[in-house]
Amino acid sequence: VAPARDRLRIAIQKSGRLADPARALLASCGLTWRESRDRLFCYGETLPIDLLLVRDDDIPGLIADGVCDFGVVGRNVLAEQDAGRVAHDQASAFREWRALGFGKCRLAVAVPEGWSWQGPAQLSGMRVATSYPALLSRWLADQGVAAEVAFLSGSVEIAPRLGQADAVCDIVSSGGTLAANQLKPVATLFESEAVLAGPVAELDAIRGELAALLLRRLDGALRMRH
Ligand code: PRP
Ligand code: ZN
Ligand code: MG
Repeated sequence: VAPARDRLRIAIQKSGRLADPARALLASCGLTWRESRDRLFCYGETLPIDLLLVRDDDIPGLIADGVCDFGVVGRNVLAEQDAGRVAHDQASAFREWRALGFGKCRLAVAVPEGWSWQGPAQLSGMRVATSYPALLSRWLADQGVAAEVAFLSGSVEIAPRLGQADAVCDIVSSGGTLAANQLKPVATLFESEAVLAGPVAELDAIRGELAALLLRRLDGALRMRH
């Protein structure tokens, strides 16, 4: 897909926690769209700012590849993929432009409820399941703890019950998912919320002007909320 050079393209989550608030925030900036039949693309009507509806995990890569100019995504996803790039000696290809104030959650290590927690050293020699291997590996290294990081793309919380892992490192919002799996959070690695992600560098002239307009309206909308 070639990037649209005279229109701005923003990636948002197709379904999930951030989907509706992301769209509502952009709508409050005065944007309106005409939806494609498959509901994956929304063509900007009032302004040449289009939406692409995708999986949240794909958003940083779409920005890195220049397919989209901006995206609304959790800081956790952005940080994990940036840490993954750094670990592979790749340059940063996206950055946080604005914090958006919704979708607040944290990345936490959680252990079975029966454990009495004595601190990170307790994880030595253990296997920890996570969808955030780069952030978890960095935290373990900072703590000086040698533990095995087991990557799972989803359903991380059931790994201990299945005997796949001793502990987990996952996103906690209400805490309901952990509780339902008899796990308790014991350490917070990272505080997260939805952010507007964009390129590291400035945009070219036409899209740069559109981006400046969008950011002015976004900042106004964010101020009204606080
Ligand atoms: C996260 C996490 C848990 C859930 C925890 O997934 O992986 O499944 O939220 O939320 P809770 O504490 O309110 O129960 P999420 O649905 O945000 O993202 P994903 O589908 O991209 O993994
Ligand atoms: Zn996801
Ligand atoms: Mg999940």
